[in-house]
Amino acid sequence: MKILVTGGLGFIGSHTVVELQHEGFEVVVIDDLSNSSMDVLHGIEKISGKQPEFENIDLREKKSVQDFFKKYNDISGVIHFAASKAVGESVENPLKYYENNINTLVYLLQELQQKKEVSFIFSSSCTVYGQAATMPITESAPVQQAMSPYGNTKQIGEEIIRDVANVSEMNAILLRYFNPIGAHSSSEIGELPLGVPQNLVPFITQTAIGLRKELSVYGDDYATLDGTAIRDYIHVVDLAKAHVIALQRLLANKNQEKVETFNIGTGTGSSVLEVIHAFEKVSGQQLPYKIVGRREGDVTSAYANTDKANNILGWKSQSTLEEALQSAWNWEQKIRNK
Ligand code: WQD
Repeated sequence: MKILVTGGLGFIGSHTVVELQHEGFEVVVIDDLSNSSMDVLHGIEKISGKQPEFENIDLREKKSVQDFFKKYNDISGVIHFAASKAVGESVENPLKYYENNINTLVYLLQELQQKKEVSFIFSSSCTVYGQAATMPITESAPVQQAMSPYGNTKQIGEEIIRDVANVSEMNAILLRYFNPIGAHSSSEIGELPLGVPQNLVPFITQTAIGLRKELSVYGDDYATLDGTAIRDYIHVVDLAKAHVIALQRLLANKNQEKVETFNIGTGTGSSVLEVIHAFEKVSGQQLPYKIVGRREGDVTSAYANTDKANNILGWKSQSTLEEALQSAWNWEQKIRNK
């Protein structure tokens, strides 16, 4: 069975391709290499022994999307990762985000809605909940006014998919990711942030390897046990497996609604200081850090209630925070010491 993975050379996409191949799916990757490289394709091949088919396509070009589906008319499912994801950049350049994340989704769905039956998995984000009133966050928590154009593209994306599923044979699962971290156990693929990392874990590993002088901890005056903000950090391989299980559910017509939504997290919240100390433990070295002011747009706390994913999807995250950090650290050391 052939599955299209857009953004399949990105961080979460590449790990998902590996898990799909492991389950016997044939994979076609679309990626425009804007935030990835051909090395990732080779990394995937090293792990699985099989190179996925690859098309270097920019999904903003409608004609290319149409041509792709003419060439590949046997796609049974689509996992759609391709998108821009830098929150700060989206505030500076909102139209880039609406074009990259919304136009591309529309062009894809225009092709898919003509198909007889198609399964669609969408990368959504816990950012849709904003600062939820109660922790842990269930899927029924209200979606709140987005704090950035990036967050808005995830909310609008979810709505577009619901509208299209209503009038087509498409079934969809929206996966709301919490904070993905880590790398494949082989260290053949992992996260490759462009420029200075905006996310906590890549900044930590780059500081530990000596690329950054010190980590800035954004705020220690939150209403949490140690004053630093709380997130739900999930191992990227666990997250990748959730995509495969969600896809299998749709392909087997086991979904109860045309569009289902699942939180994908560990269910455990960790503060920034807890992450730092866990990293120090696994790496055996002290991390230089200083406390600075809060970062604009950050919420105090966000961690998942994963009951729905556990019970209905039949998926549960397996890795501990330490294991995920260890894999991120192994990856950082491997790519810098090449
Ligand atoms: C985690 C915590 C920071 C960096 C964002 C997006 C979300 C999702 C993942 C994208 C926060 C603190 C961070 C640093 C720090 N999207 N921090 N020093 O903000 O929860 O989520 O990325 O792909 O939609 O909003 O993740 O890793 O940036 O931050 O203290 O140098 O670490 O303040 O509390 P976030 P993050």
